[in-house]
Amino acid sequence: MRLQEKVCIITGSGGGMGKVAAEMFAKEGAKVAIFERNEMSGSGTAEAIRQAGGDAAFFQCDVTDEQSVKDAVAKTVETYGKIDVLYNNAGIMIAEDHSVIDTPEHAWDMVMNVNVKGIYFMCKYVIPEMQKHKSGSIINIASFVAFVGCSVPQDAYTASKGAVNSLTKSLAIQFRPEGIRTNAICPGPIETPLLMEWLVKDEEAKKVRLSRQPAGRFGKPEDIVYAAMYLSSDESEWTNGALLNVDGGITSNYF
Ligand SMILES: NC(=O)c1ccc[n+]([C@@H]2O[C@H](COP(=O)([O-])OP(=O)(O)OC[C@H]3O[C@@H](n4cnc5c(N)ncnc54)[C@H](O)[C@@H]3O)[C@@H](O)[C@H]2O)c1
Repeated sequence: MRLQEKVCIITGSGGGMGKVAAEMFAKEGAKVAIFERNEMSGSGTAEAIRQAGGDAAFFQCDVTDEQSVKDAVAKTVETYGKIDVLYNNAGIMIAEDHSVIDTPEHAWDMVMNVNVKGIYFMCKYVIPEMQKHKSGSIINIASFVAFVGCSVPQDAYTASKGAVNSLTKSLAIQFRPEGIRTNAICPGPIETPLLMEWLVKDEEAKKVRLSRQPAGRFGKPEDIVYAAMYLSSDESEWTNGALLNVDGGITSNYF
């Protein structure tokens, strides 16, 4: 198994892509620490994994709250003894986030808090644990929107994902000498409830969102998790500081 005995924290793993990641990682032998602010969904993911014979524990955590992150990381180390992988998946996209000229300040702050500050807090408490055993892999989930503009703007979200990519580079250079690699995955549009029920709720909206997608379909959570699995495993020993577009090709498309 590719992740045998690896202790992997996955943030936002109560639902969406994080949940699929937690389940797939457990099947590959990982011990999965479910970090999720929603108690019901987080404990549900952990329970489902255990029922299927895997190893998972739920640690309630709001990534925007420093004390909550500190406590959940400490409990993970208490439970599993070490941390091998930090998979920073938690992220939000909200309706009030539009163009800079009409986005309210509280919406801007909310998006930045989860998408950027959340990664800062997680790294702040997990990296010292990885330094103790001189190895680790950090995976940050950014987005293809960090590379291209969009006529239907979500400016806070776009800026937050650009920040995630820049931070990825900085961590990759700082900590690789201590055996800790950092990479980002930049997914294209993925078929999650969030996207399907909100941004592409009718056929017209779907057509607009797929018009530049050469694959002709939305991505599946599994498409992203396979990339994360590679970055979590020892197979990616030589991959550091990469911003990996896993997007069906949409970011490369001019027409
Ligand atoms: N769905 C897409 O098309 C798409 C495309 C590119 C990038 N992404 C990114 O992928 C990641 C996962 O997206 P998704 O579509 O699965 O989202 P989702 O909304 O389905 O799931 C996100 C999970 O994170 C949790 N969460 C939110 N705020 C949190 C906080 N403060 N602390 C802890 N947990 C929190 C939520 O409760 C939820 O379980 C996000 O970073 C998102 O920006 C998604």
